Amino acid sequence: MDKDILIKTVARLVAPPRGILAIDESLETCNKRFTKLSVPTTEEKRREYRELLVTAGDMEKYISGYILFDETIRQSTKDGKSFPGVLMAKGIEVGIKVDQGLIDMPLHLGEKVTQGLEGLADRLREYKVLGATFAKWRAVYYTGENIPSGDCMKENAIRLAKYATACQELNMVPFVEPEVLIDGDHTIEKCFEVTAQNLDVLFAELKNANIFIPGMILKTSMVIAGKDSKVQSSVSDVAKMTVKCLTEHVPKDIGGIVFLSGGQGDKEAAENLNEMHKLGALPWPLTFSYGRAIQNPALVSWAENPNDMKKAQELLLIAAKNNSEASIGKYVGK
Ligand code: G3H
Repeated sequence: MDKDILIKTVARLVAPPRGILAIDESLETCNKRFTKLSVPTTEEKRREYRELLVTAGDMEKYISGYILFDETIRQSTKDGKSFPGVLMAKGIEVGIKVDQGLIDMPLHLGEKVTQGLEGLADRLREYKVLGATFAKWRAVYYTGENIPSGDCMKENAIRLAKYATACQELNMVPFVEPEVLIDGDHTIEKCFEVTAQNLDVLFAELKNANIFIPGMILKTSMVIAGKDSKVQSSVSDVAKMTVKCLTEHVPKDIGGIVFLSGGQGDKEAAENLNEMHKLGALPWPLTFSYGRAIQNPALVSWAENPNDMKKAQELLLIAAKNNSEASIGKYVGK
């Protein structure tokens, strides 16, 4: 492990006023989103859509890195330029989702663990040759009666630590993503409790595995009420409770913290991040790593009018700019 390489990559990824764009939806998730909008679920259609996202002009002003999926990192533009090549030419870091999705956790009804450790080192080596400098592994936790269980948190933490070790051995920055899902009717207080406990379990495992903390990025969900909760969270509560939770349960020397949007509305995700930056100086760099909250308007526009790539790219750029402004507390919202 070369700590200097890891620190420099982290610094490029989280330097204000930029954040990360996730376009790493698995085949299944991407196809689900296409089907909803009546877009054919073919490889060519996925390529066409990702070309729009990768080639949008000026994105480098607001976006420091793109997270790609296995299919996407191998794809090229219509005129033959590889997607990683297009991004690198714009000074954008290439990231790659390396987990292989969720499976039911044995003997733990309603809980999931993430798979993909088998052959991981070989896959990382290949992605590195293709241009990737960072990677992502996502674990999810449902909140409900007696869940997430201690077993589920521990098992996912062990896997995240193994994944992070494999990345750092190859000088690739691991995005460690423990997502407390927004699904459910839990309160914001319950979300705080679960997130805090889970972060403690996670960082204990990362420490056990000797992970170099300044050379990793935590990609987390915000502290927020479940989407079916009777009381929905205010922007001020999300900001205060998220920052409190992260300040109390994440090591101060972490390379950076970024958020997933996790089903929040586009505006909501930007406003929440913006508000956190208004609370005063934070101990770590804090920015976004959104998928849906940046892609949504562009995807809908392209689905409705596939020949008007320009319009979709304009919408993408506006969403990226909005979140860039939010990442420094200067969101005005367009
Ligand atoms: O793993 C989650 C993605 O990288 C971020 O997607 O912002 O739509 O939750 P999201």
